[in-house]
Amino acid sequence: MKQDMSYEAVMKRQNAIMKEALGIDYDAYERGGIIFDYEVMMDDVGLSIEEVIAIERDMGVGNTPLMDLKNITALSRKLSSPGHGARILVKDEAANPSGSFKARRAALSVWDAKRKGYEGVIAATSGNYGAAVASMAARLGLKCIVIQECFDSDFKGQPEILEKQRKCEALGAEVIQMTVGPELFYHALSLMEETGFYNASLYTPSAILGIETLGYEIAEQCREKYDLVPDVVLATHAGGGNLSGTARGLLKAGLKDTKVYAASVDLSGLSMASDRDFNRKSFTTGHTGFGIPFASLPDRSDVPRNAARALRYIDRYLLVKQGEVFYTTEMLASLEGIERGPAGNTSLAAAFALSRELPEHMTIVVQETEYTGAGKHPMPQLTFAQENGIEVRFGDPDEEVPGQSIVLPSHPSLIKLREYDMNRLRLSALRRMADGRREFSDEEMAYMASEINLSVQETKALIKSL
Ligand SMILES: Cc1ncc(COP(=O)(O)O)c(C=O)c1O
Repeated sequence: MKQDMSYEAVMKRQNAIMKEALGIDYDAYERGGIIFDYEVMMDDVGLSIEEVIAIERDMGVGNTPLMDLKNITALSRKLSSPGHGARILVKDEAANPSGSFKARRAALSVWDAKRKGYEGVIAATSGNYGAAVASMAARLGLKCIVIQECFDSDFKGQPEILEKQRKCEALGAEVIQMTVGPELFYHALSLMEETGFYNASLYTPSAILGIETLGYEIAEQCREKYDLVPDVVLATHAGGGNLSGTARGLLKAGLKDTKVYAASVDLSGLSMASDRDFNRKSFTTGHTGFGIPFASLPDRSDVPRNAARALRYIDRYLLVKQGEVFYTTEMLASLEGIERGPAGNTSLAAAFALSRELPEHMTIVVQETEYTGAGKHPMPQLTFAQENGIEVRFGDPDEEVPGQSIVLPSHPSLIKLREYDMNRLRLSALRRMADGRREFSDEEMAYMASEINLSVQETKALIKSL
C-alpha cells in the first residue's frame, strides 16, 4: 500500500522515521521528568578520543596549524593601556577538507553511517556542514543528498548560501534547493523515509564527538608548540556544536581552568524564519538568530536530544557587529596575509576586543578559521546588502542596526567588547526546562544545574527568581 505523504501524516511518523534514519534509541537515555543522561548518550558512540583522532586522520581531517597572529596582537597592544593586549592564536580550520571545522563533525557522522550499513546520507543545512558531509561521503563512497534553504520567495539567494550550493554539487552531492519556510523538515523526513538514508544531523552524538578533537588539538599544540595553557578559547556560536565539542575536547585534554567564551554576530531584531529578513543579513551562521535560541533550548533541533549543549560550557557570551567582522576579515588579510571566511572572523573580532582588556601575558585562542570564496568574501556580501537597501558606511559599529545598516569601524579601536547577559540566557533555559513547574526532585535540580553550568545552590536561587 502507498504511504500517506501528506504533511500531517509524515510529521506524525517523525519519531519512527528518525529512529530508522539514525539507528539510535533516544528513549534509552531518558531518566524520568526532565532528565536525560547526556554523558551516557555520548559514551555510547563507543569511541575514545584517540580512536576519533585516528578515524579523522584516515579521512584527511584535523591536525590543522595553530598560528600566532603576531601583527594583530601587536596592533591590539598599540591600542591598549600599558601592559595590556593578550596574545591571539588562531586554529586554521580552513586547512580541513571542504575548508572548515565542519569536516570533523561530518567525518564521524558519515563514518557512523557507514559502520551502520546505510547506503547514503542526508543533511538538511545551508551551511558549511553540507559541503563537509558531501566531501566525507565522497571519501567513504556513500551517496549524499543536501537539502538547503537557498532563496526568499522571489528566488533571490544570499551569495554565501549559493556558494555553498555550488560547493556541495562540486563534491558530488545531489542538492535540493528550497525557499525559506517550515517545509524543509518535512522534505528531509520524506526523503529519509523514501531513501532509507542516514540522517547526518548536525546534532547527533557522533557529530559532536568529531569536534572534540579540535579542543584536544588546541590543548596539545599550545603545550607542545607554545609551552602554554590558553586562558581563553573563543568559539563562534550558532547551533552550539562548535563550542560544545571544542569545550569537551579541552576538558578531555585536562584543561579545566581554560575559559570558553562564545561569540556571535548581533542580529537582534531580525527574524530568521521570515521571508523578508532572510536576505537582510550578511551572515548565514554564527549569529544571535541561532545562537541565543539554541543555547537556551538545545532540544529544538532535528533530533530528540541534541548532543550540542553549549550552555553547559559557555563562561561568557560576546557579541560583535556585522561591520566589525567585515573589518576584521580585511585586518587578517592585510596584517597577517591570511584571507579567510566570515564565521571564524566572528570570534576573531571578539578576540581583538577582548585582547585589549586582558594583560599581555594572557593567551586567547580563536578556535577556527574557515575558507573563503566567491560568495563569502566581503565584496559580494556588501554589494548584495546594498542591493537589498542596507546602508553600508564607516563610523561607530555601535550605531549599526541589523537589517538596516552595516557600520564598518572607522578605526580599529572602535571594535568593542559587548556581553550577552549570561543570567538572562540561563533564566530563559530554566524557564523552558521548568515548563511551568516550580518543584523539582534532587536529581532534576542537579540536571538543571549541569545544563546551565552553575552549582545547585545558584540554580535554586535562579529558579526562585523565575
Ligand atoms: C565555519 C563555521 N563556524 C562556526 C559555525 C557555528 O557552529 P555551531 O552551529 O555548531 O555553533 C558554523 C556553523 O554553521 C560554521 O560553518
